[in-house]
Amino acid sequence: MNTLLKGIGNSKDIEIFYDKWSDSYDQTLYNWNYKAPKQSVNILKKFIKKKPRYLLDLACGTGLFVEEYLKTYPRCICDGSDISKKILNLSQENGKYRRLYKKSFEKKINIPNQYNIVSLIGAMTYCKNHQILFNLVSNYLYRNGFFIFTQRVDLWKDLNFGNILKSRSDFNLVYKSRPLNYLPKNKVFGSNIKIRIVLLVKK
Ligand SMILES: C[S@@+](CC[C@H](N)C(=O)[O-])C[C@H]1O[C@@H](n2cnc3c(N)ncnc32)[C@H](O)[C@@H]1O
Repeated sequence: MNTLLKGIGNSKDIEIFYDKWSDSYDQTLYNWNYKAPKQSVNILKKFIKKKPRYLLDLACGTGLFVEEYLKTYPRCICDGSDISKKILNLSQENGKYRRLYKKSFEKKINIPNQYNIVSLIGAMTYCKNHQILFNLVSNYLYRNGFFIFTQRVDLWKDLNFGNILKSRSDFNLVYKSRPLNYLPKNKVFGSNIKIRIVLLVKK
């Protein structure tokens, strides 16, 4: 579990880690009381007035976020991407996504259309170059489109993440949550590791 805490390693290590975890991922996250998907949807509900048509779910995993999201926005067309093939196989079986891409979120996806929302839930930890990620997200979004993501509070501090956000002239901050427990029933994370949920709008 220390591996999860420290960020696992390079992208090949991360891919192997999640491939191995894929079969028990949903059950484990349920046991750890992982609430970020539901909490993120609640934030979207609060701030988004017009029903979104297209969502791109980066690092989509098995689709936990989209499962929650579609309860509120059942007509939205959702695409997803992830680096783990086995995780993507599970999202495919889930049948919630129109298209799925096996791709790092730091590499360009050849998108079929622009999106009203891009999400990155529970995965900012693995980002090596935030400017590349933000550039890509900015290109995927329509004007006035939203980027919703989580970021761990400990990494926020270490990376001076507030400055990274301020450096982005293409986005405005809409909302930044207070620190929330991330995986409260996991022994290592407990109440030690918190996240913020952030909502940005593309200018
Ligand atoms: C904690 S899971 C979160 C999955 C999902 N968003 C959720 O909320 O359940 C992290 C996911 O990020 C994926 N991931 C890690 N680094 C990635 C990268 N560079 N590009 C795309 N996906 C990545 C992993 O394969 C894994 O599925």
